[in-house]
Amino acid sequence: MKTEQPIVLQIKKIVNEASKIKTFIFDYRLDSEPGQFINLWIPRFDEKPFSISYQDDKKFAVTVACIGPFTEKMCSLKEGDLVGIRGPYGKSFNLKGKNIVLVGGGCGCGPLAFLADEAVKKKINVNFIIGARTKDALLFLERMKKSNIKTFVTTDDGSFGVKGFATDLLKDFLEKNHIDAVYSCGPEKMMKKVAEMCKNKKIYCELSLERYMKCGFGICGQCCMDDSGFRVCTDGPIIQGEEALKLKEFGDYRRDASGKKVKL
Ligand SMILES: Cc1cc2nc3c(=O)[nH]c(=O)nc-3n(C[C@H](O)[C@H](O)[C@H](O)COP(=O)(O)OP(=O)(O)OC[C@H]3O[C@@H](n4cnc5c(N)ncnc54)[C@H](O)[C@@H]3O)c2cc1C
Ligand code: FES
Repeated sequence: MKTEQPIVLQIKKIVNEASKIKTFIFDYRLDSEPGQFINLWIPRFDEKPFSISYQDDKKFAVTVACIGPFTEKMCSLKEGDLVGIRGPYGKSFNLKGKNIVLVGGGCGCGPLAFLADEAVKKKINVNFIIGARTKDALLFLERMKKSNIKTFVTTDDGSFGVKGFATDLLKDFLEKNHIDAVYSCGPEKMMKKVAEMCKNKKIYCELSLERYMKCGFGICGQCCMDDSGFRVCTDGPIIQGEEALKLKEFGDYRRDASGKKVKL
C-alpha cells in the first residue's frame, strides 16, 4: 500500500549483512519500485532517506551502513522497536533490453539488489558487479547466488574477488559483451566514471543520486543540484547518466544540512 502519510512500523527482523551494515525488514506491503526511497523517522531523534533494498507482497527492507549519528542510532535498534516511515518517494529505475549490468559500490548495492530481483522476474539477464573497500563490506553475495544472478566482485584491497574498482571490471565487460543498459548506485565518483564510459560507448545508463534531504517530496529545496532547480527527491534520485553528467556538481561536491558545499 502506498503511504505518503507517515505510518509507524515495528522492525520485524534485523540481518547483519556485513561489517557495520544491517538490513531492517518490515512486515508491510509497500508497493514501491526499485530505486525509490522512504524517509525513516526515529522518534525524538531525526529522519533520513533510505532506498528500498528488498520487497515482496508482504515485506520490504532497507539496508543501512552505520556511518554517522542517525545510522548509528538506527543500528542500535532491536527487533520489535518502532520507527516511522513516509514514502515511497522519487523516480525509479527503468529496465531496458535483455542483457544488463548493475554496478554497485558499498550500500549502493541495496536498490540494485531490488532491481536485480525485478529484472529476473522479467527474464532479463543480469550481471551484477559488486564492489567494496574490503571483503567485510561486501553485500548480498548469497542472496544473488540464490536467485541465480551472476555476480562479479571487486575489492579495493584485493581481500576478495578482483583487486581494484568496480569500474575496472565494467570497462572490461563493456568491451567484451553486448550490453543493453547499465544501472549504478554507490560513491558519486564511481558513478561518474560509469556514466562517462556508457556515454562513450553509447549505452543506456541510469544512476541513483544522493543529496542531503529534508522534506523528501519537493518543497524545501534542500536537495537541489546546481542552479537548475533539479530536485534529487522528486526529479531523481534515479537519473539518466547523460543528464547527470550535465550537472556541474555531480561527482564534485554536495551540500551539508546547512547548505554549505562539501567536496566529494
Ligand atoms: C535517496 C537516498 C537514498 C539513500 N539510501 C541509503 C541506503 O539505502 N542506505 C544507507 O545507509 N544510506 C542511504 N542514504 C544516506 C542516508 O540517508 C544518510 O544520510 C547517511 O546514511 C548518513 O546519515 P548519518 O546521520 O548516520 O550520518 P551523517 O552525519 O549524515 O554522515 C556521516 C558521514 O557520511 C558523510 N555523508 C553523509 N551523507 C553523504 C552523502 N550523501 N554523500 C557523501 N557523503 C555523505 C558525511 O559527510 C559524514 O562524514 C540515502 C540517501 C538518499 C538521499
Ligand atoms: S528534500 Fe526537500 S525538495 Fe528535496
